[in-house]
Order: sequence, then structure tokens, then C-alpha cells
Amino acid sequence: MDWQVTVACAMIGYVIVIILLRTLFPEKHLHWNDINLEDLNFPADFIWGVATASHQIEGNNYNNWTQFEQREHKTPSGAACDHWNLWQEDHNLLTELGVDSYRFSIEWSRIEPNEGEWNEEAIEVYSKMIDSLIARGIEPMITLHHFSHPVWFEEKGGFYKTENLPYFKAYCARIFPYFSDKVAKWCTVNEPDVFSIMGYHMGMFPPGKRSPIKAIRVMKNVMIAHGEVYHELKRQNPSSYIGLAKNVTIFDPYRRWNLLHWLTTFALNYIWNGAIISALKRGRMFGSSVKIVKNSADFIGLNYYTHVLTSPFLPQTTEIDLPSREHEIVTEFGYPMYAEGLVRATKWLGKLNLPIEITENGVADGKDSLRPNHLKRHLWMIAELIKQGVDIKSYYHWSLMDNFEWAEGYTMRFGLYHVDYENQTRTLRESGKIYQQIIKQSKL
Ligand code: FCB
Repeated sequence: MDWQVTVACAMIGYVIVIILLRTLFPEKHLHWNDINLEDLNFPADFIWGVATASHQIEGNNYNNWTQFEQREHKTPSGAACDHWNLWQEDHNLLTELGVDSYRFSIEWSRIEPNEGEWNEEAIEVYSKMIDSLIARGIEPMITLHHFSHPVWFEEKGGFYKTENLPYFKAYCARIFPYFSDKVAKWCTVNEPDVFSIMGYHMGMFPPGKRSPIKAIRVMKNVMIAHGEVYHELKRQNPSSYIGLAKNVTIFDPYRRWNLLHWLTTFALNYIWNGAIISALKRGRMFGSSVKIVKNSADFIGLNYYTHVLTSPFLPQTTEIDLPSREHEIVTEFGYPMYAEGLVRATKWLGKLNLPIEITENGVADGKDSLRPNHLKRHLWMIAELIKQGVDIKSYYHWSLMDNFEWAEGYTMRFGLYHVDYENQTRTLRESGKIYQQIIKQSKL
């Protein structure tokens, strides 16, 4: 064969491969202008909620994050929303919204500030919070680890060291009996993917490391910790409903004709999403056995925000405007609004055959100009998926109110309530009113 024929064959082969990839892995986009977003029908028992996390709202914590903020000269989280003092008022906001459930986290560094030292006062405050929610008819969903943990645990090497996992298990085993007769729904950990990649590969979360190998090890360890905790808590109370919150970010090829972009996509989708699904389904992750993780969930929590258009040259930071498709609306965080991604996100999680709880979804939007549309598009998509038979039980909007947004400090505002940090005033945004109406409507 002369070289012209070889080149022609290679080109034809390339085109066939790309056509196959494009057909097998379509990227869904809807014509939103043709869709009636007011037409939202949810089952009567659908659970409406909002979500927060301790370090983002409580204020004046002392944990791995505050330590990181000081060391790296980052925006101090400081008083945050002063929720530790204002939680009763904040529970009024939940009642005002009309939610059925509230997802929040309890702060390990408050409960066990030093190794083996238990702060009964802090436990008492969380206990009162739980009672207050129940008295209001709002079901608590508690996250045991939402990115923050005590400094003593961090100094021992945190989740990087396999020998540290028993500390987390011991903490969970000890705190669980205080609340497990009143609280049925638990998330062991929040986003093992974001936690490990942002902290150990991107260097933007504590401990600020930049090593993909370390990130993979931490992700695996967090999943093992999840598995250990799951079995321990189920042993203590078999009727508890326990899962974890998984961030599903979809990686799509930036150029759908570029094979390199497709290959990057496959690698990133496996690292970010596939590995964790495989751990839960098969007890295997990154080529090794994580047996304890297999079948260690009663539900899978989905934190859904966006898709990322990927190429091998994807910047290793999130503080940039990520690429987007021409017609897509770019949010303040720099990533596109892509409600259609819920189809693939739930399909992937569907491999687990577990009920899906949407444990987070929302948008940074200080002016509240995108949030109404963002909220409706995502809810429309969820209603549609439920109609098609996807087992989605709940929706927790991120977030109840503006709060400390990790690497971005206070610049990103995700709240249904605006927070004035000068005087800690909360004001219901237009989008909050819309959510309130949607909840009300769905109960009629
Ligand atoms: C998620 C986190 C949550 C919040 C939102 C915007 O990844 O779980 O705490 O910061 O992003």
C-alpha cells in the first residue's frame, strides 16, 4: 500500500471513530425557550429541602479550613453567617420557605476539638437544633463530614493516611447514638471527589497539595472511611437511611471531533465519577479492592452543578472561566448552566440501583438574575426524569442562604436568602419566593 492509501484509510478510520463516539455518547441540549417551565409536576411524597454545611455558616470554627486560611493568607471564614448563635432565626427561614427537610452538617472540630475530648455543650446545641427542626415538621438530614475536620486530625495526616481512618469511624460511632433515634437520614461524607481533588491535586482546599497520586489515594481512603462508617452505623441502628453525597460533574469533550479531547473526557469521567460508582457497586476502585465499600449505601446523594468541557489542556484551577457551548449561559462561578446534565448524572448513578436524593443543586448569583431560571430548569428536568421512572426522592437546594464558599470566600452567593454580613440580616430573594411557591403549589 502506498502512503496515500494509508493516510486515506487512517483518515476514514478517524472519522468513523469520531462518528461512533458522537453517536454513542450524545451531549443532550434542550431548546429551553420552547419549554414551559411553569409546568412542574412532582409526586405528592416528593421531599423539598435546602442544604448547608457547618463551616460555611456557623462561624468561628477552628478546623483544617481555618488553619489553611491563615497559612495561605486566604479570606478568613470568620463569623460566616453566625449561624451558631442565630440558628433559631435561621430555622424560621426554613419554615418560611416551607421545606420538608433540611440537610446540614455537624462540625467534628466542635464536637471533638482535641483527640478524645468531647464537647458536650456543642453536642447539646446540635441536639436542640434537631429538636427544633422536628418540632417544625422539618426532617433533618445530617452530613458527618462536609470538608472540615479538627486540626489534630489534619496534623496526623487526615484522610491521606490509611491508619487515621479509625479516628473518623470512632467519632461517627460515638456521635451517632446521640441523634440516631431522632434522625433517620445521614450522609457520611460530602463529595469525596471534590474533597480529594481540590485538596490534593488542585491545591485549592486544605491541605493545598498538588499531586494527582495523592488525590487518588485520599479519594480511596475517604470511600473506605465511608464504608466503615456505614456498616458501623447500620449495626447500631439498622433502620437508619445512610448514604453519601456524590458530586457528579460531567466531563464532555470541548471539541467533539477531537479524539484527544474524548480520551481526556473518558479519563476524567472515570477518575471523578466512575471510580466511586465502581467502589459502591463492585468494591473496586482504581484497580484495587475496596470490599468494605461494596453495597455500603441505602441511597445515593447527587450534588449536581454542571458539565466541564474538557481538553488535555484544561487549566488546573477553578478560578477561570471554563469553556462553554455558544448557547449556554455562564454562571458567576464561571461554569455553564446545564440542567440537561441531570439526565446523564442520574443514569450513571442509576447503575447503583439505589434511590437518588438530590443533596445539592444551585447557582452562584449575587444579583439573583439567573437563579429563578436555573432553579426552574433543574426542577423541570427532575420532574421529567421522575416521569420517565428515575427514582428521585428529594431535592435540596444549595443553599438556604449566602455563605462562606470555600476557595472563593464570600464572593460567590448561593443563597435563596441574601445575607448582609455586616449586620447578619437575611433577605428572601425573588428566587427564594419562587421556590417557596413551587413547594406550596406541589402540596396542593
Ligand atoms: C459543593 C459543596 C458545597 C458548596 C457548593 C457550591 O461542591 O459541597 O459545600 O460549596 O459546592
